[in-house]
Amino acid sequence: MNTTPYTRCRVHPRSYIIKTPFISAHYTYDMNICLRDLNKTYGHGDAKTHVLQSVSLTIDSGQFVSIVGTSGSGKTTMLNIMGGLDTSFTGSVTIGDHQLEKLKESQLARLRNDKFGFIFQQFHLLDHLTALENITLPEFFNRDPKKNIDPTKRAQTLLDQVGLLHKQDAKPTELSGGQKQRVAIARALYNNPKILFCDEPTGSLDRLTGEQIMELFQSLNKEHNLTLIVVTHEEHVAKMASRIIRLEDGKLISDDMVQHHHEEA
Ligand SMILES: Nc1ncnc2c1ncn2[C@@H]1O[C@H](COP(=O)(O)OP(=O)(O)O)[C@@H](O)[C@H]1O
Ligand SMILES: [Mg+2]
Repeated sequence: MNTTPYTRCRVHPRSYIIKTPFISAHYTYDMNICLRDLNKTYGHGDAKTHVLQSVSLTIDSGQFVSIVGTSGSGKTTMLNIMGGLDTSFTGSVTIGDHQLEKLKESQLARLRNDKFGFIFQQFHLLDHLTALENITLPEFFNRDPKKNIDPTKRAQTLLDQVGLLHKQDAKPTELSGGQKQRVAIARALYNNPKILFCDEPTGSLDRLTGEQIMELFQSLNKEHNLTLIVVTHEEHVAKMASRIIRLEDGKLISDDMVQHHHEEA
């Protein structure tokens, strides 16, 4: 197993917070992800299955990581635990200075809403809403809506970022799979998350479209320092990240940085 430098658990001090309105919220403080001896089981006695076994790793803020493994290896389980969607585990999961197993459900919900974005294989768009309306949905779940934000303008900026401004009035049924996933990505970015958790985001797309979605992730990662965690069972998708973590039967079997050779600029 190739050991990477990402083995320490570093929690950045709060002193990172810079109290000036002129500095983008992206850079206020880091949100490293740190798993320590993560274990998860289902069932009891003879029916007990060990879905995650002693997984420890650190993902630094701003990394683009893929988690690969065959079906049933524990990828979704691990992603859901990191994303604060599943709290029945042992071990510790720290994100930034939040220790997930110590948070109440309301605190977890707040963290998910403010700092995380989620992308799924099946897009989960609402068919009766337009692309633009789907993107403004998170506004309705925000506890304190930001008064200085015009949801329509925010959604248009995001649609532009994913290359779909011209489709703002289209309903999901009028969009291709790749376009639907772009709308879902724009929606996940609505609250300016620090981390995007993506479960098989290219699983319903053809190879080329899937690679285009991964290219969009690459640019979001580079330009906005967004941490990206992409679960996939496809090797060609996995290697478009900059780090590949492999799971087999719930165990971390390798962890490698990827060398990207760009043929020409
Ligand atoms: N609710 C559940 N009850 C029992 N076993 C489950 C449940 N959810 C997942 N599993 C089992 O956990 C293992 C890992 O599942 P999962 O994390 O979904 O894998 P992957 O995403 O890599 O396909 C599988 O063996 C699966 O059958
Ligand atoms: Mg899965």
